[in-house]
Amino acid sequence: MGVLGMVGGATPAWAWSASQSVAGLGGQVPPWLVWDEQADPIVAGVIERGEAAAVNALLRTWTRNGQPLPAGLPVELRDFIEDARRLPAWTDTRKLAAAVEFNKRRGTYLGVSYGFVSGMMSTVIPHEARAVYYSRGGADMKHRISRTAKFGYDIGSRNAFQPDGSMIVTAVKTRMAHAGVRHLLPQSSHWTGVADEDVPISQRDILVTWHSLPTSVMKAMRSWGVRISTSEADAFLHSWQIAAHLLGVRDEYIPATWADANAQAPQILDPVIGPTPEGIELADFLVNLAAETDGGLLTRPLLQAMTRYFLGDRIADWLELPRNPGWDQAIAAGWPPFVMLKETGLLLPGIDELYWLFDEFLRQGALWYLGEGQPLDIEIPDANNPN
Ligand code: HEM
Repeated sequence: MGVLGMVGGATPAWAWSASQSVAGLGGQVPPWLVWDEQADPIVAGVIERGEAAAVNALLRTWTRNGQPLPAGLPVELRDFIEDARRLPAWTDTRKLAAAVEFNKRRGTYLGVSYGFVSGMMSTVIPHEARAVYYSRGGADMKHRISRTAKFGYDIGSRNAFQPDGSMIVTAVKTRMAHAGVRHLLPQSSHWTGVADEDVPISQRDILVTWHSLPTSVMKAMRSWGVRISTSEADAFLHSWQIAAHLLGVRDEYIPATWADANAQAPQILDPVIGPTPEGIELADFLVNLAAETDGGLLTRPLLQAMTRYFLGDRIADWLELPRNPGWDQAIAAGWPPFVMLKETGLLLPGIDELYWLFDEFLRQGALWYLGEGQPLDIEIPDANNPN
């Protein structure tokens, strides 16, 4: 499939200057022509030699950033990981420390944004929706979501990038999982039957998803009137720049500043979003995620209404989420004053049922996602979704 076919027939725009990236040079090759030349052949080799299960078993013991790798890994994989786990020279540890504070202070908003802005948005990113649906994880969505939530959890944790933290491990394991998906999905007749690209998860795709995360989160929080200082915003951006680097995105594509990120997003994210049958099904799964706790009586309309409010009618309609009279109005009427009262420090616990519900819902949400006591190991896949 040619380059044009990858973006639905439209000529993709890639107007990117070297000075806009953290590398400060390069960036001219469009990112839809680049995958991961370090990880892809090595991980493909692991899968082809039937070593994925053994490698995953070894890597399950590697959980902390500062921890040495277990013995027994294939040499080229070990060398790759040693290289991939190194933080880039442009890492600013003060900014990373400030990002931790920001994550702590803004936990509620970040929870809402990661879930209802980024998470639900992923279902209207066609390449991502299809890749998720037809890869092995698509067969067990609840666990897939748990492992993905681990990424947002680890990046916001106190010691994320410190030797006793886990974010570097999580990101490098994710990079290897993506490399595995690049090798496997083209072998899935389900995926090739619908895909408009030969190999999934190009650097462009990762940038698309990246913008659905920090860029969309920051835009949402600002639109809600959350006060965020420039240094807080820069620190948050920095943690995600490092995450992009660890995921294997070339430095030449990683936006250097918020201005650069905001200039890249309309080229990268906005033109690609749209409904797919796979995305509609994934969204339906997501809004039913908590249904086992209450048969969906409250949680389903609440999740649907929150998605409609945070992503807007166009996306909610694409996802075929029904309107929920009562809930839709309650969220639309309740969220702005909730933010305002929270920002002015006037919100007291128990002041109002709905506000309580917002906060509680978020806390519970994390538990629903993460609370099954299953180990959340991010692994190299060795098969696609058989369904
Ligand atoms: C796996 C995060 C971009 C498709 C994962 C996992 C994480 C993750 C944490 C491991 C989950 C698991 O083990 O199930 C991210 C982040 C991204 C990103 C933070 C960008 C900033 C993408 C993109 C695509 C994609 C662009 C597709 C176009 C997948 C697939 C899997 C996966 C198919 C494997 C699921 C399986 O195990 O079958 N990703 N991802 N990801 N990701 Fe991504």
